[in-house]
Amino acid sequence: MTVKSKAKIIRGMVLFLATVSLVAASLPLAAQEDEMMLPARDPAGLQRPAVAFSHSDHADQLNCNRCHHDFDALGNNTVEEDGQACADCHEATPGANPIPLTRAYHLQCKGCHQALVAAGQGAAPPVMCGQCHVRQSRPLS
Ligand code: HEC
Ligand code: HEC
Ligand code: HEC
Ligand code: HEC
Repeated sequence: MTVKSKAKIIRGMVLFLATVSLVAASLPLAAQEDEMMLPARDPAGLQRPAVAFSHSDHADQLNCNRCHHDFDALGNNTVEEDGQACADCHEATPGANPIPLTRAYHLQCKGCHQALVAAGQGAAPPVMCGQCHVRQSRPLS
């Protein structure tokens, strides 16, 4: 290989790497998975099958702050655009926060679904145990 062609190859590689990093930098970082298995942490020792949750389906239709919150002293929801793991604040057993993790999920997930079913607005999101805690892995749509 001549020195010239070697230089050409190196120049080509540098250009290629520069392009790759430019493209990578312009892509938004995927902050959360579209499909999640809940709990996202500590899935060991569950009594019920883990819950498949389509974050993208929900986030397409609902404001982020319907689910994500960070309350100030007056109870205002001051959550920023980037959501936070529920377990950061809701511990498995009630600690500083009075609402333990499982209860936080049930209140929020089931609470909204039950209200929607009661309102009879077409969509009938799951409210029965086995509809959320689906035995075996079901295909994520
Ligand atoms: C229907 C409820 C709901 C809605 C609406 C929702 N999220 Fe989430 N989001 C969740 C749940 C549940 C998790 C999993 C939290 C966990 O792992 O503890 C999550 C996780 C996340 C995470 C990852 C947090 C982490 O550190 O693990 C981010 C970031 C996020 N959501 C951002 C958003 C944004 C931005 C929106 C609005 C466009 C939004 N979410 C709308 C319920 C929701
Ligand atoms: C930054 C801390 C923090 C995070 C993260 C957080 N919570 Fe909370 N949550 C609180 C606090 C504080 C309260 C108020 C508790 C009280 O009644 O004193 C609360 C209350 C609740 C309540 C009952 C009050 C209501 O009307 O909403 C539910 C349900 C709940 N959280 C579910 C969740 C779920 C589900 C997630 C994850 C998507 C989550 N929380 C993430 C701090 C947090
Ligand atoms: C504020 C309202 C609201 C909250 C909170 C909410 N959901 Fe839903 N959920 C909906 C609606 C609306 C639908 C129907 C969406 C559709 O079929 O287009 C739905 C549908 C579903 C479905 C069936 C369709 C699918 O995506 O597979 C599952 C499973 C589900 N939700 C799980 C959860 C879980 C788990 C949580 C809590 C982490 C949660 N939802 C929180 C409103 C909510
Ligand atoms: C709308 C969806 C939904 C429905 C309906 C629902 N759950 Fe859950 N449940 C969850 C989510 C989300 C969690 C938190 C993730 C986890 O721990 O699996 C949870 C957690 C749990 C846990 C703690 C974790 C474990 O497996 O040990 C138990 C126990 C549980 N649910 C039992 C029930 C029972 C019993 C019913 C019916 C009376 C029910 N759930 C209905 C969504 C649901």
